[in-house]
Amino acid sequence: MDVRRDAAPRQQTRRAWLAEQGTLVLSGTVAMSLPGRAAQAQGGGATRPSSAAPIATPRHSPVTKPIPSSGEPLPVVGLGTWITFNVGNDPRARDACAEVVRAFFARGGRVIDSSPMYGSSQPVIGHALAKLSRAGESAALFSAEKVWTGDGAGGAQQIDVSRAHWGVPRFDLMQVHNLLAWEAHLPRLLAMKAEGKLRYVGITTSEGRRHGEFERVMRTQPLDFVQLTYNPVDREAERRLLPLAAERGLAVLANRPFREGALLDALARHPLPGWAVELRCDGWAQAVLKFIVSHPAVTCAIPATSQVAHVIQNVGAARNPLPDAALRARIAADVARLV
Ligand SMILES: NC(=O)c1ccc[n+]([C@@H]2O[C@H](COP(=O)([O-])OP(=O)(O)OC[C@H]3O[C@@H](n4cnc5c(N)ncnc54)[C@H](OP(=O)(O)O)[C@@H]3O)[C@@H](O)[C@H]2O)c1
Repeated sequence: MDVRRDAAPRQQTRRAWLAEQGTLVLSGTVAMSLPGRAAQAQGGGATRPSSAAPIATPRHSPVTKPIPSSGEPLPVVGLGTWITFNVGNDPRARDACAEVVRAFFARGGRVIDSSPMYGSSQPVIGHALAKLSRAGESAALFSAEKVWTGDGAGGAQQIDVSRAHWGVPRFDLMQVHNLLAWEAHLPRLLAMKAEGKLRYVGITTSEGRRHGEFERVMRTQPLDFVQLTYNPVDREAERRLLPLAAERGLAVLANRPFREGALLDALARHPLPGWAVELRCDGWAQAVLKFIVSHPAVTCAIPATSQVAHVIQNVGAARNPLPDAALRARIAADVARLV
């Protein structure tokens, strides 16, 4: 785990001080070092991002967790693009999204998640990446895309179109969106991974949909990633899917961390509790994200935003201290009571 060591404040709680020293027991919530499977990095290229741009050395080093199948560390907060990046062709709106991406990379962010389902989000990401590249700015992109078509035969072409929109030579992660035609898509994705045409394979669901089938695919297919909904109020995944992901060595992307913003709107009416101050949260968004990414099985939360100030806040949650098991239970109880 990468640990950002901020300057110690004059008045520190015991918890904050211990976290600062890297000795706070976080109930095993965050691995302190890369696991043994790091040695099994697939294809010898598992630690190399697919982005054509050089890897940045960010000023801000967020907390990372390893992808279990390779050991590659990922910052625990990424960037979703549904709705927020679906801004069409308006040049000003596209440039505003590019600024969000710039701020995201500048603070050490890496994972950007999209889908052919998200309207113009893919070309808007491509616009941002091209703009950064033209400006000579670097980006350690970890591209997370999806295949989303009921026509199994059309999957390869859809992936090619997505790649052209992003302007990347290959995707890091390709997920079957909402399990749509997964029986047809997964064999192709696994073959593409074997050929080095993508690096990781996954499946997605959201809002508790089709968890039974999701679990069956997790148990039977050689996946690297799963993506599902998880936040302090949507905790169904804690029962079976998150423990199974840990058991099977699958990385987990947590989608809808803010319930599309509704969770933060509801929490905004309430003052931040003392524990959030102890966790050095500057607002509810960081408190929610710290809850999510401190679950032992969660690798990365992917909040979406159209605002630079919000992406800075969100990536800022990838910073110690993170809550231990007891505090996580209290956060869930408090949030459930407040919304
Ligand atoms: N089945 C699937 O595969 C699936 C399903 C759902 C979602 N996803 C993925 O998960 C991502 C996230 O989920 P989501 O887009 O549904 O919603 P979300 O991330 O839960 O919430 C996004 C909303 O929160 C607001 N927000 C973000 N950061 C904020 C902050 N710091 N303070 C206040 N408001 C903030 C945003 O408004 P502003 O623009 O004003 O910041 C936006 O309206 C998606 O974009 C997508 O990539 C995947």
